[in-house]
Amino acid sequence: MNLCVIGTGYVGLVSGVCFAELGNKVICVDIEEEKIRNLNNGIMPIYESDLEDICNRNRQEGRIEFTTSLEHGVKNSEIIFIAVGTPSLPNGQADLSAVEAVATDIAKYMNGYKIIVNKSTVPVGTQKWVTQIIKDNQRQKHDFDVVSNPEFLREGTAVYDTMNTDRVVIGSVSHKASKIMTELHEPFNAPVIITDPESAEMIKYAANAFLATKITFINEIANICEKVGADVKEVAKGIGLDRRISNRFLEPGVGYGGACFPKDTKAIVKIGEKVGYDFEVVKSVIRVNEKQKLRPFKKLEKALGTIEGKRVGILGLSFKPNTDDMREAPSIDIICAIQNAGGTVKAYDPIAMDGAQNILRNVEYANTPYDAVKDVDAVILVTEWKEFEQLDLKRVKDLVKGNIFIDGRNVFNYTEMKKLGFEYYCIGRRDDEYYKHYLKEVAITALENH
Ligand SMILES: NC(=O)c1ccc[n+]([C@@H]2O[C@H](COP(=O)([O-])OP(=O)(O)OC[C@H]3O[C@@H](n4cnc5c(N)ncnc54)[C@H](O)[C@@H]3O)[C@@H](O)[C@H]2O)c1
Repeated sequence: MNLCVIGTGYVGLVSGVCFAELGNKVICVDIEEEKIRNLNNGIMPIYESDLEDICNRNRQEGRIEFTTSLEHGVKNSEIIFIAVGTPSLPNGQADLSAVEAVATDIAKYMNGYKIIVNKSTVPVGTQKWVTQIIKDNQRQKHDFDVVSNPEFLREGTAVYDTMNTDRVVIGSVSHKASKIMTELHEPFNAPVIITDPESAEMIKYAANAFLATKITFINEIANICEKVGADVKEVAKGIGLDRRISNRFLEPGVGYGGACFPKDTKAIVKIGEKVGYDFEVVKSVIRVNEKQKLRPFKKLEKALGTIEGKRVGILGLSFKPNTDDMREAPSIDIICAIQNAGGTVKAYDPIAMDGAQNILRNVEYANTPYDAVKDVDAVILVTEWKEFEQLDLKRVKDLVKGNIFIDGRNVFNYTEMKKLGFEYYCIGRRDDEYYKHYLKEVAITALENH
């Protein structure tokens, strides 16, 4: 099929590339000239595993092209995906200005029947709103359908997720559009849910709000575990084997970040407010997550006494591993808190340092994780990159000045870190050695009482 994807970010570019890989002809459009120039030279604007290879192969084989001309994209495609950003407005509502601009232009350049697909995450009612924008701005009358088709890929595994999606959601009032969209998605071999546009739009927000809630729930369990001597890893294993709960998204850490959960949780609260509904659970999730992001900082403050004049090494900046995305990354909150308390920061991230430099001021960027920890008073691991799992911890210990190590992602083993001489803090986990000793004591007492 002939497709146009407008917006070549994480969603648009990955979707366009995957559709091309499946044999469609794809025109990718973006407003940013430099991005398009780079893509035409084989340079990706984002880091995603496998993206560059698949993209460049399909470009060379003529299945995907990149342009700033929305007119070219619209005129030569039957299905047009809108995949532009919908960031939060200051009041938490989704900013739909890019969607509006794109929908207006699509209308102008239509030259026949088109299916316009909202792939961006947009509030309930947007399918109707976009339909009206197109009606109002058509230069010549042509039939069209607007479909809601939310995207569920995760950054870091975006190509894999697209090719192996759990489900395809098609929100449409048109039988014709639903049929064409179903055919387009057939090669993905995934369950297809055809529903009304409002439900499709709500599915996306409900999914993200639920996942954010699950993360926040296990973070709070971890925080309580620390106080009662339980180990959150054991607890997560124990509850995760319950199929109603599942073991996914039960890794405690420094709170969620990124381009989706923070803005989508705020947006669903706003969707509720607009119809007079107070979404209390999600409001608490947002509040708790803000606190969780600062949990490593609070541990640091407690361990160091004062942060004034102290130097802290930060391992990992992106909001999660395998992506360069710094949007709403907890590292930003942690680093700003350290700087505001009078400390300084050295940081290392395998991929996200270029992006971080546009956001974080007065940070010393290191070329290796070892440089980042050299002569620091404390280390905080913020992002669980694979590279950090393989660190020579003895070398790290020799390089640091202080011995405080705050592991915001539970990457390391408590006992080993203590043996190496670190004052080790993690999220919701217990000292195994202490626990073995405790178990022995309990067993002895039980035997004695028997
Ligand atoms: N990033 C994710 O993991 C993810 C997952 C699922 C859904 N989403 C949703 O998908 C949408 C896109 O997210 P993203 O992360 O890909 O955003 P992004 O910021 O990475 O990309 C958006 C792209 O749209 C382009 N753009 C903006 N205005 C334009 C215009 N008028 N014409 C042409 N191009 C324009 C920008 O230049 C940019 O390249 C959002 O609604 C987001 O919530 C994102």
